Amino acid sequence: MFSQLAALSILLMTACASIPKNPGYRAVWYDDFNGIKGAMVDSSKWNQVTIKNAATLKQIQIYTDRASNAHLSGDGQLYIVPKKGGTSPRYWSSARLESDGSWACKAGEAMIFQSEIRVPDFTNALTKYNGLWPAFWTKGQSCRDGTAKGFKCGEWDIFEVTNNMGKINQGTLHFENLDGAHNGSLHGITQYAGGVYHTWAFKVDRRNSNWKKQSLTWYVDGKVFYHVTGATIGIFSEWKILAQSPFFIILNLAIGGEAGSYGGLATESTVDGFEASMRVKYVAVYKSN
Ligand SMILES: *[C@@H]1O[C@H](CO)[C@@H](O)[C@H](O)[C@H]1NC(C)=O
Repeated sequence: MFSQLAALSILLMTACASIPKNPGYRAVWYDDFNGIKGAMVDSSKWNQVTIKNAATLKQIQIYTDRASNAHLSGDGQLYIVPKKGGTSPRYWSSARLESDGSWACKAGEAMIFQSEIRVPDFTNALTKYNGLWPAFWTKGQSCRDGTAKGFKCGEWDIFEVTNNMGKINQGTLHFENLDGAHNGSLHGITQYAGGVYHTWAFKVDRRNSNWKKQSLTWYVDGKVFYHVTGATIGIFSEWKILAQSPFFIILNLAIGGEAGSYGGLATESTVDGFEASMRVKYVAVYKSN
């Protein structure tokens, strides 16, 4: 009886899961952000990290664990909402969610990180969006374990947009060259229509036993916009970090505030609240069958 009930509830959970199917793949983890309006994200899946002094990259937000900065919509969306109202020099509050788990693509399999996301329409780089910098990206678990620092653990930027980039998304790899220098030069760009939902995905493919033929691929709405192979990287120790190690997922919205900030400069005219929010329908990790 118990096992029948358990089987039934698993069936129901599967039936209710509002994440898309990826043919040839199964979901090994996901959040569809279903839940009560205003509720915080599921803490068994996400860590809403608090960072008070993000001095790096000239950002002016603090990241809080407040529901006002990250909550469920009540109809299956996550809202990450930047707010004005901090103290100098951090004039804004926002949220950064990190997945509790991390996932590695094993030998012989392929793995996809995928999310459906809506950000403000940056198309004409309107002044009111200056400084906003929403992102769906990952870092290698070794940074979280403390066994590596900075870019040494590897980083995949899947969807990372700023107002000063207009309607362009740049997918980028970050890692360290053998001499320890930061390498962020491998990137692909794509245009997308702002202010509406798009599906962004990143695939690691280790189904070829020759590492030089294994690959990393970026997709928008199912179409490839950037592709890197082991041969592109050329150095096995770097490929091992970038394609064969565990990565965790990050969803955040930063605000740039100083000259040279990647996100551009937030000004008095930059809007906060719902209009400036990053909205997410789901995040899922798939593995090949
Ligand atoms: C980054 O890595 C790629 C692949 O190994 C290499 O071709 C490129 O020269 C590197 N770029 C920099 C700036 O080191």
